[in-house]
Amino acid sequence: MDIQTIPADYSPAPDLLRGKVVLVTGAGDGIGRAAAESYAAHGATVVLLGRTLAKLEAVYDAIEAAGGAQPALFPLDLASATEADYSTLADALDSTFGRLDGLLHNASLLGERRPIANATWNAWSDVMQVNVNAQFLLSRATLPLLEQAPLASVIFTSSGVGRQGRAYWGAYAVSKFATEGLMQVLADELENTSRIRVNSLNPGATNTAMRRSAYPAETPTENPSPAAIMPTYLYLMGDDSAGVTKQAFDAQP
Ligand SMILES: NC(=O)c1ccc[n+]([C@@H]2O[C@H](COP(=O)([O-])OP(=O)(O)OC[C@H]3O[C@@H](n4cnc5c(N)ncnc54)[C@H](OP(=O)(O)O)[C@@H]3O)[C@@H](O)[C@H]2O)c1
Repeated sequence: MDIQTIPADYSPAPDLLRGKVVLVTGAGDGIGRAAAESYAAHGATVVLLGRTLAKLEAVYDAIEAAGGAQPALFPLDLASATEADYSTLADALDSTFGRLDGLLHNASLLGERRPIANATWNAWSDVMQVNVNAQFLLSRATLPLLEQAPLASVIFTSSGVGRQGRAYWGAYAVSKFATEGLMQVLADELENTSRIRVNSLNPGATNTAMRRSAYPAETPTENPSPAAIMPTYLYLMGDDSAGVTKQAFDAQP
């Protein structure tokens, strides 16, 4: 797999995402929060999806305080969401905006860090539900809306362990390989017939709750903040990446 990075001097225009409607999953914390705020700061109307309403409301307030367009809130637990919930979301987006220009699949569970031999079915299933099945259901539900946009971008969030397997990373690593697979299959299906581009993005080690939980011995500030890795998130979401599809990106060199 060839991994792409953007030029170090990439500088997104302040209005890169003006007029676009962008849905971010896991928007209440970590990288998803930074992406939602950054997309709003570059002109997007952001739809904040996550499982903890209070966190989504805090992001909503931060975006409004910064002068961004009024966001939309959609609290949803991807571990238990049904097909009907995704239809409700798509209907709400359709009636409110009539289209969707961008979708950042960001929410994920880390799950258990243990050998396959000792992995538990419950934890395995939860990770697969949130990290893989939810992405399929959300992609399928929103494709008709993405088709309504002049140019649309879907970003799947990968990981280093989704490109090279590693001991004890269990369901999380397997789910990220599946994420790369879903990206490639969807991108291939849309490549010649639609204006929707589909790519994957590995943020790399980033100072978030997930990283701190995976590496408790690490000094958190040794890793970049979510805000520091936003250039690649902006590049892939905005029209600067028009025509770029079925590619795997790293957000850090
Ligand atoms: N941080 C890194 O170093 C790193 C490295 C490689 C890849 N990644 C990937 O980058 C993405 C973001 O990671 P992060 O580090 O920002 O993680 P994080 O700090 O744990 O944030 C994850 C977000 O996803 C939400 N989420 C989790 N389960 C959910 C569910 N069932 N339904 C709805 N939302 C749910 C969380 O909601 P709550 O706030 O309610 O918990 C949280 O807002 C993930 O896909 C991760 O695999 C991260």
